[in-house]
Order: sequence, then structure tokens, then C-alpha cells
Amino acid sequence: MTLPSPLPRVIQGGMGVAVSDWRLANAVARLGQLGIVSGSMLDTVFVRRLQDGDAGGHVRRAVAAFPAPEVGEEVLRRYFNSHGRAASTPYKNLPMYKQRVSDARQRVTVLANFVEVWLAKEGHAGPVGLNLLTKVQMPNLASLYGAMLAGVDVVIMGAGIPREIPGVLDAFAEHLPAQLKFDIEGLQRGEAEYLTFDPSSCVSPHVRQRSLKRPAFIAVVSASSLAATLARKANGRVDGFVVESPTAGGHNAPPRGELQLNARGEPVYGERDVVDLAKMREIGLPFWLAGGVGSPAGLTTGLSEGAAGIQVGTLFAYCRESGLAADIKARVLAAVADGTVSLRTDPRASPTGYPFKVVELPGDIDHVVARRRICDLGYLRVPIRTADGRTIYRCSAEPVDAYIAKGGDFADTIGRRCLCNGLTANIGQAQSRPETNTEEIPLVTSGDDLLSLAALASTIPGYTAEHVVRYLCQ
Ligand SMILES: Cc1cc2nc3c(=O)[nH]c(=O)nc-3n(C[C@H](O)[C@H](O)[C@H](O)COP(=O)(O)O)c2cc1C
Repeated sequence: MTLPSPLPRVIQGGMGVAVSDWRLANAVARLGQLGIVSGSMLDTVFVRRLQDGDAGGHVRRAVAAFPAPEVGEEVLRRYFNSHGRAASTPYKNLPMYKQRVSDARQRVTVLANFVEVWLAKEGHAGPVGLNLLTKVQMPNLASLYGAMLAGVDVVIMGAGIPREIPGVLDAFAEHLPAQLKFDIEGLQRGEAEYLTFDPSSCVSPHVRQRSLKRPAFIAVVSASSLAATLARKANGRVDGFVVESPTAGGHNAPPRGELQLNARGEPVYGERDVVDLAKMREIGLPFWLAGGVGSPAGLTTGLSEGAAGIQVGTLFAYCRESGLAADIKARVLAAVADGTVSLRTDPRASPTGYPFKVVELPGDIDHVVARRRICDLGYLRVPIRTADGRTIYRCSAEPVDAYIAKGGDFADTIGRRCLCNGLTANIGQAQSRPETNTEEIPLVTSGDDLLSLAALASTIPGYTAEHVVRYLCQ
């Protein structure tokens, strides 16, 4: 499939973890704009929803639509708890991803992505996309296949160079096995390792008889050179780009050249980081601007620069349908209104090494300092080839001793935050830690637009996705 026609003016940005969930994407797609669900850590979010009792039965309704019923039955048996979780009972975690995991483990990821896209598409004919991070490699193949089984219209990927993804979409449209080169640190020259996924491990030949729709592919870039390379050298069709600037929420591309920090310890961006839109126009594919452009003026300027529209995150992150927990939305909006919020582009917080924008609320830092490190979700673990030929996995936010025992450098651990546990806490799925009688603490991210959000939020308390779309397109 090519991009939806007419092209959407507004892409509601993919926001992990489950901030842009099926409810938000459904609300946006219904209005004819492009609604995006985040696929990041969706398998964990999915099994936690089931353990919390699946209020309203939405997850189970979508599971029942999965074309291989035995897959759903297996997962429900293991994870569904009709009474929900008793207070302070920890969630049961999935086994952490590695290069090779069991077929059953992959099927949870396939099903989770199917469910999210299916629910986002339910009840209307608007376009729905899936956002994944290229760098969080291990779940990506199963995620893409699951979303395609649900008829996802668009796949949007940044945070890395998604050169091999278009070819994967082509293969999965025919239910063929696909692979991605697996980035293991310390591989010998000429050595290559792969991540693989075979649809036959998930659905029967009967299901595989009919081709799937090949979704359009949009790459998120922060340089026109990367867009040009992808347009020419990807292993299949690229349909467009999101051009993201460092004011955007979530992870940002690091500044070009040597890293310089301002007095607040934030990376300093300069002229070289401004994307050359003339070069973007020359490529000849549609593009959307992202980062601090979530306003009617941002849309008009974007269109006059030759963009097809804008991708907006922050405004949607605090609207009624987003997955952010209601108390977090309220706390952040109140702090924005009374000027006590601070937004910092933290070059160290994310174990990925990319700058990450952190919303700092009064009192939060004390909890951060007190948190005992634990690594039990492991999506950001980096694979390392050891001298004796094994592949091990480590994360710079894991317990420091463990990281060093795996050959890591102490300096890498300083200032790191556990994104996996922090981001799941943001959506009301904080893990309980009975041993310390605590819960995981949220780690909220937003774009610089957060500071101008107060106007919308105070004029229309509890504003909805529809308010955002109407506001942008007025
Ligand atoms: C809470 C939040 C989480 C985000 N998570 C992701 C993500 O997982 N993947 C991604 O590609 N972009 C992510 N983004 C970026 C958005 O998709 C979008 O490009 C960006 O928010 C646009 O800038 P704005 O925040 O100024 O509107 C996130 C943004 C926010 C606010």
C-alpha cells in the first residue's frame, strides 16, 4: 500500500510506552488524520493489561479476532486474571528478549501488536500506523508481523537507520521469513549475526494463503542526508519521512560534531543540526515536520516549506485519550500552569546514549536517587560478544556491579535511568517491589511544546484528541 490519499496533514506521533495507545490512535484516525500506536514494549503492556483484569474486555475482544485462536488461548491462560491484581502484587514479567527466544515468546509480541492495531482500527476506516524504534531491535520483527496481520496502514521508524525494514514488510506481506542484521558489539570483522522471524511459527498455512497488505513506510530522520540515503539504498520502498528536530519529545538525535553542554548540562544544538528542507524537497517524497510545530502556525509554515503536514506528540500526550496515567497528566499540567515544571534534555538518562527529554516535577529527584537498580524488562540491553564467543546482554541502567562484571565501564552507568520500568509506570503499570515496599517511579518525557500547552489545557480542561486536531487544522 502507498500512503493514504489524500495525505494526512497531521500525524499523531508514536509515543512510547503506550502513551499513544489504541484509544488515542483510534480517536485521531476517526478524524481522517494518521493515528499512530507505539509498538515499544507493547508485549509487556499487553500482558499487564491482562493481569489487571482487562476492564471493558477490549483486549480480549481483539484477541478473539486473531486469526490463530490457539495463540490467544495460550496467552490468556498464562496471563489473564479476571479479578485483576491484588494491591502490591508484582506483575508477572515476560522472559526478557535475546537474539533467540522461544516461538511462544514471539507469539506474545505478535499478538500484542495485532491487538493494539486491531483496536486502533476498530469502527472506522481512517488510517492507523505503528511506531517502532529501530535501535530496540529484538522485538521488531514479531511486532511488525503482528501489526500487519491486523492490517496496519503505515509503519514509522526512527532511532537508528531503518534501511532493512522496507524489505521485511515486503517479505511479511507474503508471510515469508525475514531477518535483520543484529548489531552485536565486539563482533569480528566479516562476522554477522541475524535476528529472524518466520510467520509459520505463528499462524497456520490456511492463514498464510492470503497476502497481507504491505504498509507504507515512513522513516524518522534528523538530517536530509539520511533521508536521501534511505530513499536510494533501503532494501525496499520508502514512502516518506518525518523530519524531527531536537525540540521533539522523547529521544532526540545527538548534535552533530563534538558534544557540548550548556550550563544545565543539556546538549547544545547549532546550525549544522537544522535540516535542509530544500534537500528534503529534492528527494521528491512527502515529508512531515516534527518537534515544536504543534500549532496552526506550525502547520501553515510547514505546508509553505513543502511539507505534507506535521507530526505532533506533546499536545496529544496530555489529551484525554492518551495512555498517560490521569494523575500524571494532572500533575504535569498543574506544574506547567504554575511554572514549577522543568524540562531538561538529559544526555545521560537514557541507556541508549541518545539525549532524552525529561519532565522534572518538584520532589521527583529524591525518588530517583532512592531507587534500587534492577533490570527485569531488558528492552534496551545491548548484546556483546565476549572473548570466549558467547553473546551477553547488558544495560547501563542495570545494577552497577552486574554491568561491570559483564565488562562494562563504571562511567557509562552514571546518571542512567531505567526507561523500561519508568515508562511503564507512566501509564499506570508501575511494577511493585515488595522487597523495598515501593513501586517503580514514572519517567515522563515531553517536547519543548509542553511549556505552551497550558493555554490549550486551561481553556479546555480535559481536552480531547479531537480538540487537538481541530485546533491544529483551524
Ligand atoms: C511522551 C512522548 C513519547 C514519545 N515517544 C516516541 C517514540 O517512542 N518513538 C518515536 O519515534 N517518537 C517518540 N516521540 C516523538 C513524537 O513521535 C513526535 O515526533 C514529537 O513529539 C513531535 O514533537 P512535539 O512533541 O513538539 O509535538 C515521543 C514524544 C512524546 C511527547
